Amino acid sequence: MRSLLGSRIILATGNDGKIREYRQLLTHHDIAMKTTGELGISDPPETETSFAGNARIKAVNAMRASNMIALAEDSGLEVEALQDAPGVATASWATDSSGRNYQKALNRVWQELADSDSNAPYRARFRAVICVTWPDGGEELFAGRVNGIIVWPPRGAGGFGYDPIFVPDGSDRTFAEMTADEKSSYSHRAKAVNHLVAQCLQDHE
Ligand code: IMP
Repeated sequence: MRSLLGSRIILATGNDGKIREYRQLLTHHDIAMKTTGELGISDPPETETSFAGNARIKAVNAMRASNMIALAEDSGLEVEALQDAPGVATASWATDSSGRNYQKALNRVWQELADSDSNAPYRARFRAVICVTWPDGGEELFAGRVNGIIVWPPRGAGGFGYDPIFVPDGSDRTFAEMTADEKSSYSHRAKAVNHLVAQCLQDHE
């Protein structure tokens, strides 16, 4: 496994919520991070049908545009009663002509659950796959997931995205009602980052 100790990397996302969480999760590690937004690199179309495939598209795009080691994440919400939708379409459910619209996305999840023949508790999970690519062609993947339930109405003002309707197993509060540290003790993203840290940011000497 390759090391990222002392590296400069580019984080391939324009999502402010993700950027905040990566800065927090990697803050005590020996790594310097720029984002694609800071370097004026635009997001590529996400044309794959898996989180890993889309994470790789974003990482390779950022790596080629910057010639730096790139870290990208593709993530999403899978709701069991909706046959694991929105899944890789999680971001597009929250997109309208004016940009990101999470209220629309939360309403759609709830409306589709109301139209289904399932009853609460509505089991769901967040999944994240991180892809790290190196300019010489090297690549590593790290995955994380968190199981929980969808609740309504939305609760809390923290976090981002679908956080106000997701309660992880082991808590009775939504991600949006938690501090950043509490969310990280459960989250799919923190678990994927923990794998990355264990493999690429420890001194294995
Ligand atoms: P991506 O940028 O294509 O990976 O899109 C991920 C989508 O999943 C975004 O719309 C996010 O709102 C949603 N998402 C991913 N992780 C989280 C999270 O930790 N909390 C809430 N929503 C999330």
